[in-house]
Amino acid sequence: MMKKLSFFLISSAVFASLFFVIGVLISRANEERKIETRKNLFVSYGLRSDGKSPFVSLPPFLAHNSARARLGESLFYDKSFTRTPKRVCSYCHALNEGGTDCKIRNGVMTRPVYNAVFSTVFMHDGSVTNFNDAVRMMVEGKNFCGGMPISNIVEKLSKDPKTVRKFQACYEDGLTEKNFLDAFSQFGRTLITSNTKFDFYFSGSTNTYNASEIRGIEIFKARNCISCHNGPALGGRKIYEGKKVSPLRGLSFRKTYLQQRPTSELSTVLTFMPEGDVENTEERISLIDFLKTM
Ligand code: HEC
Ligand code: HEC
Repeated sequence: MMKKLSFFLISSAVFASLFFVIGVLISRANEERKIETRKNLFVSYGLRSDGKSPFVSLPPFLAHNSARARLGESLFYDKSFTRTPKRVCSYCHALNEGGTDCKIRNGVMTRPVYNAVFSTVFMHDGSVTNFNDAVRMMVEGKNFCGGMPISNIVEKLSKDPKTVRKFQACYEDGLTEKNFLDAFSQFGRTLITSNTKFDFYFSGSTNTYNASEIRGIEIFKARNCISCHNGPALGGRKIYEGKKVSPLRGLSFRKTYLQQRPTSELSTVLTFMPEGDVENTEERISLIDFLKTM
């Protein structure tokens, strides 16, 4: 009887430790895979990261062709192809206000163009999956620039010798639909919010953060905000309940948050986030302090 019992106890203990060891090995392998995936993602944008931290400081721009980017920039301010002068890109995507005037038109708020280059889903519902198609939707959409197919716009622009010359200087085949979109996309690669407190901290100047902001990092991690707000811009790569997860980078330049229930209070925003209802006031303040450095 005793023998049977001790055999049972010993074998259970052996099995339990075996399962524990296997569990640890699996979770370590998962963690390593996660780090590798993150590293590959960051490096694919030319960012420096070993993948261990979910946070990465952003450079002032991604690799681009500067002449084409300058051409894209001039189109961003160009009133000649828009329906009315007000419908120019720069009017809604005010670059000195975080890339959005935060106004709601036809039920949707202007989205920031800063850091959009890191997004894989675009628009409030994520219905667009790349930058060029987002620009196409803007240029062709009635509620945005003009409501005219790009082919018509290119035809219109081709009557202006100055614009034609500009395109010829940048592209072998001059002004075409493809090059028109490419110029915007090259400009998009320069629309990055770098040089924030966040960027300094995560590039190694650790003395730029105060104790509250450092605590905010831990709360952000512990509450698993990263499960949605991930990637170089901490968002822009997922849909949640039919809505695009907004990138958090560039947040400090904006005045209004949330698409559906716009508010200027980050504490209100948090109440709508999973795990965001931080009851402890000090913790909530720290999390917000951290968000404000972005
Ligand atoms: C009348 C205001 C307005 C104008 C003009 C405008 N946009 Fe937009 N833009 C918006 C709105 C509103 C959205 C969000 C649409 C949505 O969520 O469905 C948006 C979204 C975008 C996005 C996607 C951002 C993201 O992260 O999802 C890009 C890129 C963009 N616009 C670029 C441009 C460019 C380039 C131009 C000029 C060719 C332009 N926009 C002109 C209002 C405007
Ligand atoms: C399950 C996915 C998910 C999780 C987890 C999540 N969020 Fe969000 N977050 C979203 C979505 C979706 C939006 C866009 C909502 C909208 O605009 O209506 C958003 C928007 C935000 C915004 C507003 C950004 C802007 O410019 O409008 C902030 C700030 C924010 N989240 C912070 C957090 C924090 C902090 C946490 C962790 C406590 C968190 N989120 C967890 C999905 C998530």
